[in-house]
Amino acid sequence: MNVSEAIKSRISIRAFTPDPVPEPLLREIIEVARFAPSGGNLQPWRVIAVAGAERDAVTALAKANLPGDEGERFIYPPDLWEPYRSRRFKVGEDMYALLGIGRDNKPARLMHLAQNFEFFGAPVGLFFIIDKAMGYCQWAHLGMFMQSVALAALDRGVASCMQEAWARLRTPLAAHFGLGDHEMIYCGMALGYADMSKPVNTLRSDRAEVDEIAVFRGF
Ligand SMILES: Cc1cc2nc3c(=O)[nH]c(=O)nc-3n(C[C@H](O)[C@H](O)[C@H](O)COP(=O)(O)O)c2cc1C
Repeated sequence: MNVSEAIKSRISIRAFTPDPVPEPLLREIIEVARFAPSGGNLQPWRVIAVAGAERDAVTALAKANLPGDEGERFIYPPDLWEPYRSRRFKVGEDMYALLGIGRDNKPARLMHLAQNFEFFGAPVGLFFIIDKAMGYCQWAHLGMFMQSVALAALDRGVASCMQEAWARLRTPLAAHFGLGDHEMIYCGMALGYADMSKPVNTLRSDRAEVDEIAVFRGF
């Protein structure tokens, strides 16, 4: 798989088979991803990977602490504006259509959202940690590391879904993992093998065209 193919074929998988991802394979993925760039080479990231009983402890913790609270580092800015509002709405509607869940079926939508806290059935969960004192620049760099994890995983047949949903549980997760006062969890990630028999995994999200996002000057 070349890099362009990998970037274009990585998608968020929201139904996994229970097949395990062995630790050596996960180590190999992180061994590749650690070459992600970061300003000043700070490498402002740390990862906690959970599987087996550790994964189950985290999903139990979620059940006990939901709905949680995303705090001041919110997942989306309040009152999202265009074009972002429509993009978010569209991907949500497309996903619920594939799941056969109508707009008014709030309970079913909430049930699907709750799947986040089961890692959508994935055998491995990752938590990406950043020092609280880091600024938005370092958060961007952490994002590059996360994309690198997802691509290195894909290269090995392992699917992923990034999960900012876990931001709602930052405080209990930090206590659970014994994080230092200076650390926080930015985001989670489900990792495993895609169950392609599930319609939700056929979702292909839209992207803005090149001319919507780029200008070319002086060519
Ligand atoms: C940082 C980050 C956090 C995300 N958090 C969630 C999440 O909590 N739950 C979820 O189902 N999808 C989550 N997503 C997936 C996005 O919805 C998805 O990337 C977007 O719709 C584009 O679709 P694609 O990943 O299939 O290309 C997240 C993506 C990113 C980059």
